[in-house]
Amino acid sequence: MPGHKGNGPLGVEALDITEVRGADSLFCADGIIKESESVASEIFGAHTFYSTEGSSLSIRAMVYLTALYARALGRVPKIVSARNCHRSFLSALALVDLEVEWLDSADEGSYLTAGDVRGAFADYLGRTPTECLPIALYVTSPDYLGNMQDIGALAALCHERGMLLLVDNAHGAYLKLLEKSLHPIDLGADMCADSAHKTLEALTGAGYLHISKNAPVMLAENAKRAMSVFASTSPSYLILASLDLLNEKLLGSYRDELRDFIIKLDICKEMITNKGVKLVGDEPMKITVYAKSMGYSGNMLADVLRERGIECEFSDEDFVTLMPTPSSRADITVATEVILGLKPRARKNSEASAPVLKGKPERVMSVREAILSVPERVPVKQALGRVVCDTALACPPAVPILMPGERVGYDAVAVLEYYGIDSLLAVRE
Ligand SMILES: Cc1ncc(COP(=O)(O)O)c(C=O)c1O
Repeated sequence: MPGHKGNGPLGVEALDITEVRGADSLFCADGIIKESESVASEIFGAHTFYSTEGSSLSIRAMVYLTALYARALGRVPKIVSARNCHRSFLSALALVDLEVEWLDSADEGSYLTAGDVRGAFADYLGRTPTECLPIALYVTSPDYLGNMQDIGALAALCHERGMLLLVDNAHGAYLKLLEKSLHPIDLGADMCADSAHKTLEALTGAGYLHISKNAPVMLAENAKRAMSVFASTSPSYLILASLDLLNEKLLGSYRDELRDFIIKLDICKEMITNKGVKLVGDEPMKITVYAKSMGYSGNMLADVLRERGIECEFSDEDFVTLMPTPSSRADITVATEVILGLKPRARKNSEASAPVLKGKPERVMSVREAILSVPERVPVKQALGRVVCDTALACPPAVPILMPGERVGYDAVAVLEYYGIDSLLAVRE
């Protein structure tokens, strides 16, 4: 293996090897992969493990390790989480059979944003007896719109109570390379998942699982096994090679390139806001435009950008998110020109703010029970009262509006329709 024997139409087949002698083996690494991972560990100041299946695999491994840790300590096998999680977190909960409790979220104008998780978590702690405290808090930071949570404060709240802090940092691998690191591990998280392919320049599928050196030792000790429980036994060596080469770049010129690029981005952001266009989020490397502030929908603005050759990361009715890297200087110049050249439109329907869920939806069954239930596809218009079987979402962003096991209420129908979701998988009745 592989069947192509190093030759084929893509031209990359020669690099697409398997575990031949000398090539090491990802989940029992003791050769070149171990060496490369230890360089990455040095760079990130953590126990760093490669994923060739993105942050999705690292998230599953984090959740699995958390379940193991709860078992080892005889603690409540439950995680408390903000609702704006990626779907891989939900499949992980189902696979590992870990319960979840959702934090209250404030109305932030989008289900993609959790608002002030620190405040919501502090409230949660205030009303939860010590013996019922879950084993971990899970947050997504940065989120899809570029909002970042106060990881340092959350870590302190967790650690005071013997809880772990897990961070989905899929959008924030680069935070380690800032002049002053904002990487979750440096701010106190116990584990985090980074996508090296999203904000760094590795191939699609490249990711990391980082475990803090201050975290309980059993987490790092069991990390390889945790990854292998969910991963393919044939990890892509192309992706591994891209992670290995990325180390060189991160140790070389990348920090300087990033610093210079962020200066440019800040100038672009300032020009855009000076024109009266509202930007959201505090993440250095994202530009998220609240398109309605110009009378546009996010999807309309994305089309305008597309006509000029700029493909956004994400758009919906309200927002357009751009995710540049230092290699997209030219694109950012064009995108800024396009945004500055927009003629404000008279606000009619676009003025209405996005509908949001009114409180937490009724939970009928656990995430696991729902995901393992027999599904039936139901038009959203007829879904009132039904129980969601899988995440009700658009992809991207693969962030659910309703969680598996929740009942569809009137408010949810309005939210789903607003985001263009016309059917969902409900538990078959
Ligand atoms: C917030 C968030 N978490 C996790 C993931 C999964 O990352 P990956 O595609 O690297 O598996 C994504 C992917 O878009 C994401 O946006």
